[in-house]
Amino acid sequence: MTLLDGAIGTSHIIALLGLLWLFPVSSSYSLPLFTTNARNNQLIHKSNSRQSRLEHLTSQSDLNSTERLELTGLRARGDTYNSSLFTETHVHFKNLHNTIFSTLTNIDDTLFYLDGPQSTTTRHLLATGYDNDKLYTANYFGETVAELKRLIPNVFEGSASEVLKSLDVNFDGYYLDSCTGSTSKIIEILNTITFNKPRTVLGITLTNSSPDGSSIINRVIELNQWLYSQDGVKVESVCDEPRRWGVEGEVKFEDEGVVVLWWVVLNKDDNRT
Ligand SMILES: C[S@@+](CC[C@H](N)C(=O)[O-])C[C@H]1O[C@@H](n2cnc3c(N)ncnc32)[C@H](O)[C@@H]1O
Repeated sequence: MTLLDGAIGTSHIIALLGLLWLFPVSSSYSLPLFTTNARNNQLIHKSNSRQSRLEHLTSQSDLNSTERLELTGLRARGDTYNSSLFTETHVHFKNLHNTIFSTLTNIDDTLFYLDGPQSTTTRHLLATGYDNDKLYTANYFGETVAELKRLIPNVFEGSASEVLKSLDVNFDGYYLDSCTGSTSKIIEILNTITFNKPRTVLGITLTNSSPDGSSIINRVIELNQWLYSQDGVKVESVCDEPRRWGVEGEVKFEDEGVVVLWWVVLNKDDNRT
C-alpha cells in the first residue's frame, strides 16, 4: 500500500496541489475566501490568532500566574468560531460534512464531536434521530457549553483531549472538527483514543493555518501516517470511494483552498500486529 492509497486519495492530492498553487499556504487562513468583506476577514483573522494562543495555553501543564490570567481572559471573550461570517459555499461545505458524519454512523451510535455556539452538528444529529444521551462534545468556552447543554446533557468544558481522557466511553465515531492547522493538536486528541470498537468512524478537519510553515498536504500526510501506523487497526478511506460508503451527491473534501476535511473508517484488525 502506498501513501497515496491513504485517507486522501491520488485525485484529491492532485486537486489539492492545484488549489495550493492558486492559493498559496500562508501562516493564517486565506481569509477572503471564507468571507464576504474586509471587516469579516479581520474578525476571522483575530479569532484564529486567539484560537491558536488558547490551544497553546490549554496544552501547557504548568502555567504561571500571568498565563493563567491570559487564558481566563481569552476564554471570557467567547468562542472563536462564528459561522455567520462564512460564505454560503463554506456553510454548505460544513453542512455537507455533518451529513457525511450521520451517513457513516448509525442513529444508535455513541459519538464524540466538536461543535460551535450555533450547535450545528448537534442540531443535525438530533434532527436525524440520534439519541441525545449518546452525543458527547467538549468545548473551551463556557458560553458555548451552556448553549450546547440546552440540547444534550453530555457537554464538557475544556479541551477535547482532556475531556476524552476523563471519559470512560468507547465511541463509535469522532468528528474532530477543531478547525486547527496544527497536526500536533490533532494528534494530542487522537492519542487519547483507543480504537477498540470493531469499527470506528473518524473525521478530521485541518486548516491551512500552518504553525510551522509546513504545507497542508504534508500535514494531511503526517496525520494519515499516524493513523496507518496504529497497531491492530485497518484504515479505510471514505474520500476515495464515497459512493461505497453511502455518501451520495456532490462531495467535497476541501473548501476554497483553506480547509481539508476527510473521513476514514478504522476497522479493528486482529491479524495486524
Ligand atoms: C469548527 S467548530 C465546530 C463546528 C461544527 N462542527 C459545525 O459543523 O458547525 C469547533 C468548536 O470547538 C471548539 N474547539 C476547537 N478545538 C477544540 C478543542 N481542541 N477542545 C475543545 N474545544 C475546541 C471551538 O472553539 C469551536 O467552538
